[in-house]
Amino acid sequence: MNAPILVTGGTGTLGRLVVPLLRDAGHPVRVLSRRGGRLADGVEHVTADLLTGEGVDPAVRGVDTVLHLAGGPKGDDVATRHLVGAARRADVRHLVYISVVGADRVPLAWLRSKLEAERAVAGSGVPWTTLRAAQFHDLALTMVEKMAKLPVVPVPGGLRLQPVDARDVAARMAELTLGTPAGLVPELAGPRVYGMDELVTGYLTAVGRRRLRLPVRLPGRAGRAYRNGDNLARPGATLGVRTWEAFLAERLRRPAAEARGRAA
Ligand SMILES: NC(=O)c1ccc[n+]([C@@H]2O[C@H](COP(=O)([O-])OP(=O)(O)OC[C@H]3O[C@@H](n4cnc5c(N)ncnc54)[C@H](OP(=O)(O)O)[C@@H]3O)[C@@H](O)[C@H]2O)c1
Repeated sequence: MNAPILVTGGTGTLGRLVVPLLRDAGHPVRVLSRRGGRLADGVEHVTADLLTGEGVDPAVRGVDTVLHLAGGPKGDDVATRHLVGAARRADVRHLVYISVVGADRVPLAWLRSKLEAERAVAGSGVPWTTLRAAQFHDLALTMVEKMAKLPVVPVPGGLRLQPVDARDVAARMAELTLGTPAGLVPELAGPRVYGMDELVTGYLTAVGRRRLRLPVRLPGRAGRAYRNGDNLARPGATLGVRTWEAFLAERLRRPAAEARGRAA
């Protein structure tokens, strides 16, 4: 039996999509999270807290490859340093990390912590691969859903996103995990850049709602960086294939289909 691949955050939005791909490629998988998950064929769950470091060393023991997807709104730098230390002690041969497009350019605390996490990986002494991905469609949807709940929707002027489908990111992460250490690889973003107003309009049209819009200006240096497009992928980025429109149609169809299923 080959050594399991450790997937931190394997129960999250991205992790749930990557784990089956690694399984399909014939690898046993060990998933690390704080809350654990359901045992499945070839998938074991271990609980550990990357922020405190508790349980991390035993989770990494006996593993050659670590795919580090666990993340949160705060502390990804601290969490990653704990993982990197454990990976070094366990003689891990490949550490794969997911960061965010713009981590090196947009001056926001959570992006700075992603950049610090990238640096911890690159300086770990463990052979590594890091991919910066754009916002997932799921996150863009959560954003526009929240905005559309307000009677007047504030639309930040000049803010653009290039959302990417989490399934496209999962496929790329699986490929990188099964490949050899490659350092910082080309960024991954969605097939098209959208203005925030376009994303909001697409959503409102799809759900058949109308809302007044209020243009707002993002303040400070971060606002300037966003207006400058520093959160967008650089030329030469890899582009995902699934579009925002296709994702929206799929997501918004699902509740109706589920309701029909329940009624049957
Ligand atoms: N979402 C995006 O648009 C986007 C874009 C680019 C890059 N990324 C990056 O991709 C990664 C995955 O994102 P996602 O949206 O799939 O995240 P998610 O759905 O929020 O899942 C986070 C995962 O990490 C685990 N986790 C969180 N804190 C932990 C801790 N302290 N110790 C151990 N496990 C912990 C969670 O499980 P428990 O809560 O049970 O611990 C969960 O499995 C993150 O690194 C994120 O920064 C995300």
